[in-house]
Amino acid sequence: MTSNLRLGSRLRLSDGNLIPRLGLGVYEMDDAETRRAVTWALDAGYRHFDCAEWYYNERAVGEAIRQYLQRPGCQLERADIFYVSKLQSNRGYQSAKSSIQQSLQACQLGYIDLYLVHSPYGGRQRRLESWKAIEDAKDAGLLKSVGVSNYGQRHIEELLATCPKHEPVINQCDLHPFMARADLVEYCRKNEIALECWGPLVRGERMDHPTLKNLAKKHSVTPAQVLIRFSLQRDYVTIPKSVSKDRIEENANVFDFALDEKDMERLLSLDEYLVTDWDPIGDDSV
Ligand SMILES: NC(=O)c1ccc[n+]([C@@H]2O[C@H](COP(=O)([O-])OP(=O)(O)OC[C@H]3O[C@@H](n4cnc5c(N)ncnc54)[C@H](OP(=O)(O)O)[C@@H]3O)[C@@H](O)[C@H]2O)c1
Repeated sequence: MTSNLRLGSRLRLSDGNLIPRLGLGVYEMDDAETRRAVTWALDAGYRHFDCAEWYYNERAVGEAIRQYLQRPGCQLERADIFYVSKLQSNRGYQSAKSSIQQSLQACQLGYIDLYLVHSPYGGRQRRLESWKAIEDAKDAGLLKSVGVSNYGQRHIEELLATCPKHEPVINQCDLHPFMARADLVEYCRKNEIALECWGPLVRGERMDHPTLKNLAKKHSVTPAQVLIRFSLQRDYVTIPKSVSKDRIEENANVFDFALDEKDMERLLSLDEYLVTDWDPIGDDSV
C-alpha cells in the first residue's frame, strides 16, 4: 500500500524473507567513501546495503556496519540489517563456492541476506553451476535469500526449466522511467520474482528532464525524490547510491508525498530504452 510506505517498509519475498524496500547502493565508492556513506545511511534509517564482489568494498561495508552495531547504546542488531552481495562471474561450481566464501570472509557479517548472480554472462552450463553452488550455500545457512541480476526472461526460463531446489526470489535490473522493461517486469511478476531496480536515479543522466523537473516542482521535492518515489510506487525494491550525506538523507526522505496516477503515467511514457551502464539483457549473444 503506497500510502502506508515508510523508510522501514519491507517487501515479503517468495521465500518468506523480508527485504527493506529502500536501500543504499554502494557501487563506485572507495573504502573511505563507503565507510562514511554506510554510517550516514544507518543514521538516516537505511537498513539495506547493496554490495557486490565486483565493487571491491565488501570489507568496508561490513566494517562500517559492525562498528555501528557495536556503538555504545546502539539498539540495532545484525538481524536488523539486510546485506546484499553478488557473484561477479559464472565460472563453474567451485569458483562460485569460493566467491561466496570470500564475500562472507570480507564482510564478516556471518551470513548474506540476499545473494545474486550478477549477470548471465558465462554461458548456460556455468550459470546453472553457479546456481547450484548458491543453492548449497543457502542450504548451509550462509545465504538467506537467493536471486539473479540482469537476467532476461530467457535466462530465468532456462533456470526454472531445471526445476531448481530454490527458485530466484528477485531480479535486479536497470529500471527507471527511461528504461521500463515492461515485458520482463510482467514476466517476473507472474512468476513471483520481485523486481529490484539498479540505477533508480538514472545514474544522474536525466535530472534536468522537463517532466521530472515539473513533477518535482508540483510536489515540492527534487527530481531524485520523484525518481525514487516512482520506483517505490512501481513496487520495486530500490537502491539509490550516493556518497553525499545530504543526498543520502534526501533520497530517504520520500515518504511524505505520493505521485498520483497521472504523474505515474507521465513518467511511464518516458521509456527510451536508455542504457546507463551495461545491458546483458539486451545482448542477444548472452
Ligand atoms: N546489478 C547491477 O548490474 C548493477 C549495476 C549498477 C548498479 N547497481 C547497484 O545499484 C545501485 C544504484 O545504481 P547506480 O549507483 O548505478 O546509480 P543511481 O543510484 O541511479 O545514481 C547514482 C548517481 O546519482 C547521484 N545522486 C545520488 N543522489 C542524488 C540526488 N539526490 N540528486 C542528484 N544526484 C544524486 C550520485 O552522485 P553522488 O554519489 O555524488 O551523490 C551518482 O552519480 C548501485 O550503487 C549498485 O548497488 C547494480
